[in-house]
Amino acid sequence: MTDTSTGETTDIPEFPMTRAVGCPFAPPPRSLALNTDKQLSRVRIWDGSTPWLIHGYDAIRTLFTDVRTSVDDRLPGYPHWNAGMLATVHKRPRSVFTSDAEEHTRYRRMLSKPFTFKRVEGLRPAVQKIVNDLVDELLAGPNPGDIVSALALPVPSLVISEMLGVPYEDADFFQEQAQRGTARNATEEDTAQGAASLAKYIAKLIRAKMQSPSEDLVSDLAERVNAEEISVREATQLALGVLIAGHETTANMISLSIAALLEHPDQLAFMRDAEDPKAIAGAVEELMRYLSIIQTGQRRIAVEDIEVGGETIRAGEGIILDVAPANWDPRQFPDPDRLDLSRDDGPNVGFGYGRHQCVGQQLARMELQIVLPTLLRRIPTLRLAAPVEELPFKHDTLAYGVYELPVTW
Ligand code: HEM
Repeated sequence: MTDTSTGETTDIPEFPMTRAVGCPFAPPPRSLALNTDKQLSRVRIWDGSTPWLIHGYDAIRTLFTDVRTSVDDRLPGYPHWNAGMLATVHKRPRSVFTSDAEEHTRYRRMLSKPFTFKRVEGLRPAVQKIVNDLVDELLAGPNPGDIVSALALPVPSLVISEMLGVPYEDADFFQEQAQRGTARNATEEDTAQGAASLAKYIAKLIRAKMQSPSEDLVSDLAERVNAEEISVREATQLALGVLIAGHETTANMISLSIAALLEHPDQLAFMRDAEDPKAIAGAVEELMRYLSIIQTGQRRIAVEDIEVGGETIRAGEGIILDVAPANWDPRQFPDPDRLDLSRDDGPNVGFGYGRHQCVGQQLARMELQIVLPTLLRRIPTLRLAAPVEELPFKHDTLAYGVYELPVTW
């Protein structure tokens, strides 16, 4: 194969890469092998272009914070996920995900209030109640049961609907629409229709909260609309973006964490028996590192030449920040394939890093810190009801996970 950008004949691997059969929790072996002697390498994506894949821990942290990279997906050379994303790039409204510098700061500021440490911590009792009730329902339902539908999907959607300020009587409708695109057999149309009906619903909610606000995210956005800082359409996009970014990711992280713990009984015992909140928080960080669920890479484009990891990324070249191999980089995390809930090797990049780092990370952490120990304490005999290699893993979605997680007790 010829690398068109350099004219060199090299074996450029395709990206995304495939996971090894029998190692469902490990990142693709080919991405890990790249870390042997490099921090970044060229890969070939769907359109034949050869952007840089950033796989080393040091390089990914450097580039996540480098202002010479842009998330503007309209720039020529931006490494799109697929043809659909490229075709719709000029139709999608600008958002927190696709804006740089001051425009990005403006969007981030609008979202910051509900995600402050204090507000998130204030939700703990409500989240604990949601989890307790769902575990009650799981226990009262059929055995074997499915963790994905019983716990992993409803916890984040109920929490986000609470945070957005969705009235209680609409919570079921909201959950249904939010879960429409997450099913194994969901078509693109299901996903699009789910998003469209949520957008319609959220726009209506924004208008209502413009008249009678309360303490929630949609009211915060309605206040900005009243102040004529943003339009209802922009506010809707922001609220929908939060939901899309925070729902399936957290759900996948909950179900995959449970699967991984059930396969590592000593680590499961650590999580179940931990009493110190710091130990539980550390355990969740290790699961974030080990599972690194974001599997298609965070996309960027270089707007100036950048020297990093002994290479030069030229202005106009695409960049894919791949958090999974970075979180398994043995230069930072010795024996990365060992799930060790008491590991203390420094911060992982599972929520990204730098200016675009995850807005909802404290919320996701808090949900995991509650769901995992609660479930394991309430059902100490919990075990997988199918061999791990037979679980339906999500190989083709932005975030890795399982469509179903059958368990028995
Ligand atoms: C375990 C669950 C989650 C994972 C693994 C995750 C992962 C990430 C990552 C890697 C990024 C960085 C994107 C980049 O640098 O391009 C990000 C951004 C973001 N996340 Fe999360 N996330 C999770 C949960 C949530 C939740 C619960 C919310 C909100 C309720 C949320 C909202 C967002 C938003 C709005 C951004 C965009 C931030 C920006 O571009 O400035 N995420 N997330």
